[in-house]
Amino acid sequence: MDDLKAKYLEQIAGAGDESALEAIRVAAVGKKGEVSLKMRELGKMTPEERQVAGPALNALKDEINSALAAKKAGLADAALDARLRDEWLDVTLPVRPTREGSLHPISQVQEEITAIFAELGFSVAEGPRIDTDWYNFDALNIPGHHPARAEMDTFYMHRAEGDERPPHVLRTHTSPVQIRSMEKMGAPIRIICPGGVYRADYDQTHTPMFHQVEGLALDKNISMANLKWVLEEFVKSFFEVDDVELRFRASHFPFTEPSAEVDIRCSWQDGTLKIGEGDDWMEILGSGMVHPKVIAAGGIDPDVYQGFAFGIGIDRLAMLKYGIPDLRAFFDSDLRWLRHYGFRSLDMPALHGGLSR
Ligand code: PHE
Repeated sequence: MDDLKAKYLEQIAGAGDESALEAIRVAAVGKKGEVSLKMRELGKMTPEERQVAGPALNALKDEINSALAAKKAGLADAALDARLRDEWLDVTLPVRPTREGSLHPISQVQEEITAIFAELGFSVAEGPRIDTDWYNFDALNIPGHHPARAEMDTFYMHRAEGDERPPHVLRTHTSPVQIRSMEKMGAPIRIICPGGVYRADYDQTHTPMFHQVEGLALDKNISMANLKWVLEEFVKSFFEVDDVELRFRASHFPFTEPSAEVDIRCSWQDGTLKIGEGDDWMEILGSGMVHPKVIAAGGIDPDVYQGFAFGIGIDRLAMLKYGIPDLRAFFDSDLRWLRHYGFRSLDMPALHGGLSR
């Protein structure tokens, strides 16, 4: 038994890696290992012999097992030390732009839009993507029976029976952030809110999740003329040209009065989308003067404050600016598409020096 002990402890001490250690474990204390076989022989011994051999074999087995465990821990520590020695990164080195990893066009366009409105004095607000139907509808002057609720193809959150909380929806637009921002900041106020929104809709220019940027400006004497100027300035800056053709169309939203939608002249020829030419129009935003009921719902006195709001389709702006003909490709996660349309991650858009270089 002393020979067995000496043999295995020496082997364990000399094992170079975990697989060598495992082989030793199997040979010694595995099911058919040498020590295990010896234990089976106990049955053939006389009771006197067994009284001596039994405890000795058990002690031997325990000793080998703990030597194995200690060696295993030592090997793991050594492996970690080796990795720490070999795998290191000098985080103070300057970054080299690589082909891998790029900004999605939506993120890029969101940054561009934010840069433009920042220059016009708008700060960035945020709100939840899952919101109550009060914020998404009622506070925006869309009561329960209003047809706009049906038109929006709303995704309702599942409710357990007997759930007393107000119904929640995936927000169908960024307009609920108007209410949340008014509640939080009061008036005067000048904010934009970029973010994801959801509607059950799917074709070349619609996906069930898409992006908008909401705008809200309230003060004592803001007019429709201010709205028109801001939107024209925005579109010119965004497309980095002086001659985009815009069409202001009278429209209707329950939360603005009067309301206008804005289209951009474009063409879709031979699978390419071009801006500023052709006979097609693409709707890019809805806007108008904020309805007094909406201002009141936000806790602000509509007899003192008035102003405008708009909701711009970010994805469509990206399609137009970068000539991307199918919206659905934005969300396919196809690496080839992302490499082609992605943006270098270190180029921050700014008005000086060009938005999209
Ligand atoms: N929320 C509207 C939509 O999603 C857009 C809009 C926003 C219109 C603000 C007017 C004012 O269609």
